[in-house]
Amino acid sequence: MPAAPEAKYTEETVLWVKHHTDKLMTFAITRPEAYRFSAGQFSRLGFRDGEGFIWRAYSVVSAEYADDLEYFAVLIPGGPMSAKLAELKAGDTVLLDKNATGFLLPERFVDGKDLIMLCTGSGIAPFLSILEQPEIWQRFERLALVHSVSYADELIFNERIAQLSEHPLIGEYTGRLRFIPVLTRETGGRLNRRLPELLKSGELSAALEIPFTPADTRFMICGNPAMVKDTFQALLDMGFAMHRNRIPGQIMMENGF
Ligand SMILES: Cc1cc2nc3c(=O)[nH]c(=O)nc-3n(C[C@H](O)[C@H](O)[C@H](O)COP(=O)(O)OP(=O)(O)OC[C@H]3O[C@@H](n4cnc5c(N)ncnc54)[C@H](O)[C@@H]3O)c2cc1C
Ligand SMILES: NC(=O)c1ccc[n+]([C@@H]2O[C@H](COP(=O)([O-])OP(=O)(O)OC[C@H]3O[C@@H](n4cnc5c(N)ncnc54)[C@H](OP(=O)(O)O)[C@@H]3O)[C@@H](O)[C@H]2O)c1
Repeated sequence: MPAAPEAKYTEETVLWVKHHTDKLMTFAITRPEAYRFSAGQFSRLGFRDGEGFIWRAYSVVSAEYADDLEYFAVLIPGGPMSAKLAELKAGDTVLLDKNATGFLLPERFVDGKDLIMLCTGSGIAPFLSILEQPEIWQRFERLALVHSVSYADELIFNERIAQLSEHPLIGEYTGRLRFIPVLTRETGGRLNRRLPELLKSGELSAALEIPFTPADTRFMICGNPAMVKDTFQALLDMGFAMHRNRIPGQIMMENGF
């Protein structure tokens, strides 16, 4: 007999909500004891909506060992889920699908020395979770996080990234991290062109002071699907290949929406 639909999700309580700009918010919900995920995976969050439900994917920002589940949402004008999230407040109920999903998992790379995480917009979320895992810092010699947004006020995690140096589990390793914010519609970021152009021109490798080679470099990409496609193509043209469990390569990616 198929399980009742209710068996597939739990009802969680919103612990806090923070609006950073009119379109960017973070929030946390309670974490059921049985909820397991790997850093880099996403949850399906839902609300009751009339007679039915509305469900959307959100990457977990929290570390695997966190007590709560934190998320980062970009509110889309006219978006049905965005309308629900815009009104979210502490004490509200959010539905959480019991299973986390996703294959953007750095441990799938069996070798390589440098991990380069490339993202746009809310695509930074899985990398914030990954960066809080001690194993990743022991596994790679250098880590780079490159976050492309249009405008400076969208760089809401700069302080959090800087504070990783005080993190009790990973603080001692954070000298290995290079963080580059990219602004595409105003000046002032470290770099000012879209990710595929930064790769093709060699600007990104130069800014990171990390040579990109198939032997040493591993790329993870997350965010705008058009960016993921174009960045993947740029990397293919540079001689890198998609990573598959049976055919190891250098690139892993996930569409952020
Ligand atoms: C694997 C996966 C992980 C995701 N993780 C996140 C996350 O961590 N944070 C998050 O905000 N969203 C994330 N999303 C997108 C999210 O599921 C919703 O689509 C989004 O919140 C908008 O929902 P909506 O119902 O308001 O609009 P929708 O009807 O779902 O989307 C309308 C349009 O808005 C655009 N859009 C949707 N999401 C985004 C976004 N995040 N950034 C820019 N443009 C977007 C697209 O063009 C889309 O066609 C993820 C999606 C997938 C598939
Ligand atoms: N009407 C507008 O002018 C406008 C502008 C931005 C966003 N939006 C809408 O607002 C919502 C949220 O957008 P967002 O800004 O958080 O996410 P986004 O549109 O995905 O932009 C985030 C970053 O991704 C870059 N990007 C987009 N497409 C790319 C591609 N093909 N290759 C490489 N980089 C790419 C953007 O560069 P660019 O800045 O060069 O695009 C920006 O740096 C979406 O619904 C979006 O459609 C509208």
